[in-house]
Amino acid sequence: MAIDGHTKLFGLIGYPVGHTLSPLIHNHLAELYGQNLVYVPLPVKEEDLKRAVEGAGAFGFGGMNVTVPYKNAVIPLCTQVDPLAAQIGSVNTLVPCEGGYKGYNTDVTGLYRAMTEDGAMIEDREVIVVGAGGVGRTVAFLMAQKKAKKVYLLNRTFEKARELADHVNAYAGKELIIPLANEDHGKIPEGKYLAVQATSLGMSPKTEGVAIEDPAFYQKISCGYEIIFNPAKTRFMQLVEDAGGTAYNGLKMLLYQGIDAYELWNPVKIREEDIKAIYLMMCRELGWG
Ligand code: ATR
Repeated sequence: MAIDGHTKLFGLIGYPVGHTLSPLIHNHLAELYGQNLVYVPLPVKEEDLKRAVEGAGAFGFGGMNVTVPYKNAVIPLCTQVDPLAAQIGSVNTLVPCEGGYKGYNTDVTGLYRAMTEDGAMIEDREVIVVGAGGVGRTVAFLMAQKKAKKVYLLNRTFEKARELADHVNAYAGKELIIPLANEDHGKIPEGKYLAVQATSLGMSPKTEGVAIEDPAFYQKISCGYEIIFNPAKTRFMQLVEDAGGTAYNGLKMLLYQGIDAYELWNPVKIREEDIKAIYLMMCRELGWG
């Protein structure tokens, strides 16, 4: 694509941002939809975050993504915040609005699109969420928003699971989430659960990591949804499969958070065949053949 006097700027604010797949997603979409824009990674130091967002506005950036460690810190810098993103306390997409940027969370909408496509239905389902950190929080709110029947929230530190459960239950207006310490997973009744793995354990290069090893736990899981995409099959996924369940990795969540952001920034609806093509490109980039 030729950069000229009309090229619109988009970028990813985070630290570090060297390994991101987002430029691949957005620059390819721009090419497919004939839009004169460029998307670049923008490493920003913590002390510069405010100036970076203001500077993006000054340069007329058409939109920004925000990644670790700023998804929470960027909220007070937004002129407006989407209500669900505000509840979650995490913004990963900035869309220009009067006087600045409006913050959205396409991790949550992207995860939902990915899960729906993979047939991992949430509504009226009994669910297990493993992890109560930033990602666990996003997943827990999605479970409330999409009306899961009951959610067991496991975390190494029980207190964090309890705090998150209180917060989400207040949002849901009922006792939807039951917090448990990881070692108490045996208290979860028998069943055929949808389980979402939302810790960083098992991520490359420490691929042997998993929050719960006990094979008995995996007997209760019919569908295991992993947030990690590298490696393609985590130890959590392997344990789900060993117990006879179906497991999915987090690459589609990454893909759809990008698709959703692109659709918020640009007046286009991305075609299904283009989404598939970009997914295959991401797989190739990761060396999955
Ligand atoms: P993220 O934004 O990726 O969720 P985070 O907020 O630091 O990152 O949360 C990491 C999650 O992985 C938490 O659920 C954490 O458990 P604690 O709340 O007890 O810290 C979990 N986690 C990290 N290392 C772990 C380990 N070695 N064993 C079990 N859980 C672990």
